[in-house]
Amino acid sequence: MQSATVTNPLREGLPQERTPAPCAMVIFGASGDLTRRKLMPALYNLALEGLLPPGFSVVGYARRDLEHGTFRSQMREGVNQFSRRRPVDPDMWEVFEQGISYVQGTFEDPGDYERLGQELRRLDRERGTQGNRIYYLATPPDCYETIVDNLGRAGLNQPAEPGSWTRLIVEKPFGRDLQSARALNDRVLRIFEEEQVFRIDHYLGKETVQNILAFRFANGIFEPIWNRNYIDNVQITVAESIGIEGRGAYYDQSGALRDMVQNHMLQLLSVIAMEPPIAFEADAVRDEKVKALRAIRQVDPARVDEITVRGQYSAGWVGGQPVPGYREEPNVDPNSMTETFVALKLFIDNWRWAGVPFYLRTGKRMPRRVTEIAIQFKRVPHPLFRGAAAESLEPNVLAIRIQPDEGISLKIAAKVPGPQIRLRSVNMGFLYGTSFLVESPDAYERLLLDCMLGDSTLFTRRDETEAAWRPITAILEGWAEAPPPLFPNYEAGTWGPPEADEFLARDGREWRRP
Ligand code: BG6
Repeated sequence: MQSATVTNPLREGLPQERTPAPCAMVIFGASGDLTRRKLMPALYNLALEGLLPPGFSVVGYARRDLEHGTFRSQMREGVNQFSRRRPVDPDMWEVFEQGISYVQGTFEDPGDYERLGQELRRLDRERGTQGNRIYYLATPPDCYETIVDNLGRAGLNQPAEPGSWTRLIVEKPFGRDLQSARALNDRVLRIFEEEQVFRIDHYLGKETVQNILAFRFANGIFEPIWNRNYIDNVQITVAESIGIEGRGAYYDQSGALRDMVQNHMLQLLSVIAMEPPIAFEADAVRDEKVKALRAIRQVDPARVDEITVRGQYSAGWVGGQPVPGYREEPNVDPNSMTETFVALKLFIDNWRWAGVPFYLRTGKRMPRRVTEIAIQFKRVPHPLFRGAAAESLEPNVLAIRIQPDEGISLKIAAKVPGPQIRLRSVNMGFLYGTSFLVESPDAYERLLLDCMLGDSTLFTRRDETEAAWRPITAILEGWAEAPPPLFPNYEAGTWGPPEADEFLARDGREWRRP
């Protein structure tokens, strides 16, 4: 870790301490969806906030033959459609687009990387980018290794000038299982040093996820009860109402476990479960996250059905609209056995969490979009209020709402006004919208800026990626051996297959309705 570039992830909202050094960002796979939907809108918003360095430049790199001008207008359209601030401000865009150029090239031909190098040197001369480069891999994952090798062959992984830096951002998915993730890490780390590699998981860029660190470690009152003595179970729900959005070819090879659980959900789990880090520095924070991930009890592939439920949606109704079943989606095998829903139970075998189940569930085509972490506390040790007085009383629940309606609520028991003793559960709450009255930046804004600053706190380290793949790979192995489930087994617009409810009922618990 470069100590000069360490930042505090909690400084968000405070005046910017530093602006990044001038640099150029090359986006490989620039004609794809991610660039239009996420990366360009994020860069444009950083420009609007005055957070980009002077001379900042973006080079789109893709196979398609495009003029600079055409690429620029495609990017403008993307920003117009997907930016949180729209429409584009024409004066701002005029300045911003001066820094956008396009290089047509294949990922395989070393000659194309020579031309990329020339373009980067032009930007150093004409826009003052000082030899600092970020390479963003936004291509299908099977191109990553070829691109990285060719960057190395062309010397583009090396500092272009004394004192300059080069960094590599790798999009998810990072591998398909533990073995392929290790192989990819080995390959990337032959060309780049670990401190140059920024493996992105956009959940870590979400304000509400960073706020979990603030909540846990900037408040004295929660840490003493954040353990097996007080917590009964933890439920993490990532429900999406959308289907697979035209990504059938990718999704059918991936499934919910790889697409959402290995990365986003295990990241949420690790910030909930980690020990307090010794400092808010990239390695100190990631050391603790890795320890939590390593402590996940190894899954026995032969008993995978005891800890997982798989689902796939059939046609149904979402938001009052009829939607097709998963197998009817474009580019999906009509007999596909890919899961679009998964529920699982994990244990973290350490002193803090021994015996506390972590229930995770995620699915496409659920009734609504909601991501929530519910910390369910144990019941009081000696109930004073029984029978009718306490009929509708539930144990305390701390609900951390990641999206939408971002906020935190605590369910507590309260006396209903009146002459008798009657109790009811009520919520105490904090909502971002009403407390701060500012719109949160998109996750990619935060992460792209952090990469420019060289701060890798919110990116996953090599050992972290591999630790997250370990239990997931065992589940995949178990599924491959187990009898195939009867798909489809839940209707679009419902909360998943009935087995997911039975799964918790077997433990005497139920899913919280978020
Ligand atoms: C992506 C997955 O990583 O995350 C998508 O590939 C999913 O399938 C998306 O829809 C969810 O992100 P968010 O930020 O909308 O919760």
